[in-house]
Amino acid sequence: MITVRLHRREDIPYRVKWMNNPKVNKFIGDRLGSKTTLKEQTVWFSNYQKDKTKKFFTICDQKKPIGFMGLKNISKENRNAELFILIGEDNYRGKGIGKIAMQWLLNYGFQKCKLHKINLGVIKDNIPAVKLYKSLGFKIEGVMKDEVCSNGRYYDFLSMAIFEK
Ligand SMILES: CC(C)(COP(=O)(O)OP(=O)(O)OC[C@H]1O[C@@H](n2cnc3c(N)ncnc32)[C@H](O)[C@@H]1OP(=O)(O)O)[C@@H](O)C(=O)NCCC(=O)NCCS
Repeated sequence: MITVRLHRREDIPYRVKWMNNPKVNKFIGDRLGSKTTLKEQTVWFSNYQKDKTKKFFTICDQKKPIGFMGLKNISKENRNAELFILIGEDNYRGKGIGKIAMQWLLNYGFQKCKLHKINLGVIKDNIPAVKLYKSLGFKIEGVMKDEVCSNGRYYDFLSMAIFEK
């Protein structure tokens, strides 16, 4: 059974493992395929705890952490935020868990945080992610051509959004 709980300090080693997994990081971050360290993620977590514009959650199978997701750049004034999701464990992608987790997070964003709009950015070639977001009702608001460069290849970046019902 898929459960969601608050992101915790003990999740830091999982963050490092997942963000360093080539199957996961090939389409995430400012530098595709980049590596991170325990030290970097420990600093990230300390900053995260002080940051009121971020709210992250750990996705679990029963109690086993399998990924994380969250809202960042939460703006109370504009009632919007940016969404992110990552299923880190290889055996858990492509099984519909992303959809379950995202439905939970959208509900949290719209019902609990009373957001009007949720944005996200995704590399156009990230087929599972784009499919997932479209199936949830996200619409493409803009295409940034050749926005990201990795290993000498340029990738288009999509800006997508969904509104409160
Ligand atoms: C993107 C991600 C969150 C999707 O979650 P998931 O649980 O693997 O996806 P789901 O099983 O819910 O499938 C979502 C859709 O993609 C399709 N899909 C999944 N894997 C696919 C693949 N390898 N190739 C083509 N389509 C695929 C599914 O059929 C589904 O489409 P449908 O609703 O039309 O049937 C997950 O793959 C992931 O964490 N990837 C690595 C990190 C990442 O890219 N995060 C997003 C950054 S913007």
